[in-house]
Amino acid sequence: MAENSVVIDLDGVSSTTLSKLKKAGLLTYESIAVTPSKEIEEMTGMGSDTALKVSQLARKKVDHGFVPATLVLEQRKLMLRCNTGSPDLNRILGGGIETGAITELIGEFGSGKTQICFTLSVLAQLPVEQGGFGGKVCVIDTEGTFLPERIKQIAEERGLDTIEILNGVLVARAFNSEHQTILIKNLPQVVQENKVKLVIVDSMIGHFRGEYIGRGTLSDRQQKIGSCLASLLRVAEAFNLAVVLTNQVQAKPDTNYGDPNKPTGGHVMAHACTHRVYLRKGKENTRIAQVIDSPYLPEEKARFAVEAAGVIGCEQ
Ligand SMILES: Nc1ncnc2c1ncn2[C@@H]1O[C@H](COP(=O)(O)OP(=O)(O)O)[C@@H](O)[C@H]1O
Ligand SMILES: [Mg+2]
Repeated sequence: MAENSVVIDLDGVSSTTLSKLKKAGLLTYESIAVTPSKEIEEMTGMGSDTALKVSQLARKKVDHGFVPATLVLEQRKLMLRCNTGSPDLNRILGGGIETGAITELIGEFGSGKTQICFTLSVLAQLPVEQGGFGGKVCVIDTEGTFLPERIKQIAEERGLDTIEILNGVLVARAFNSEHQTILIKNLPQVVQENKVKLVIVDSMIGHFRGEYIGRGTLSDRQQKIGSCLASLLRVAEAFNLAVVLTNQVQAKPDTNYGDPNKPTGGHVMAHACTHRVYLRKGKENTRIAQVIDSPYLPEEKARFAVEAAGVIGCEQ
């Protein structure tokens, strides 16, 4: 995977260009090969011809042609799954939150989205043998709801070293959609430098919805969201890490039956996310999760609880 192939040389590319790539966080053949040359241009400030050349050379190095499905199956064995804290939630997710994919947590206010993020921020740091990813966590907090005290409490309740866990969570508060976009575009560098295995964006669409108001701005907004999501998926794939996004619901104006809420972000969000999980409040401290859209997971439901230790299992 990408961790092992730090770019040291691209034939015929000047050291100035190489250092520009490095500054932009494009440190591996993989991350260059999967970034569109137009974006390389924007990220590094190099000319379009150089960006195109660099992109072609990197692609040659990683050989992104056709491969037999047996090889794809082999590569998928490198996929890791992180314990969510609830065995039943793990079960409907096919074993846990997976690397190389985007998992979207959808639900109304108080449905448990942020609590799942907090719990994962702790559990993802555990070694693979203990159901974690054995890596650090990057959190992009757009709503100002990140609470280190809560991370500390979850770690403490689980008998873990709280300082070590808190140090393993790198947090950035995104103040608007532009800032959020910059933070997302800078992820390759942060991920590489800190051995990050889980990236959380809580929440993904909030700023965009608040800032782009009116029909005329919709396509511009969707295009910008789409570009962020594409970057997140590339990071997930290139670094074999998990991306977890949260998303609110909005009332559908014209429903007479069924659930009157739908996730925000429209088709762009629906298509970019690998697995979508819908969360609802249950009795007392329980929550109900349902997989609503996934390429291979059935649409199953699971009940979990939120307590001092974060997400935990409960009777079904
Ligand atoms: N320390 C805690 N102990 C038990 N339950 C908690 C604790 N902190 C938060 N919760 C529960 O989590 C809920 C908030 O869920 P949250 O994940 O923040 O919602 P959202 O989906 O809006 O992000 C609270 O209403 C409460 O029920
Ligand atoms: Mg929240």
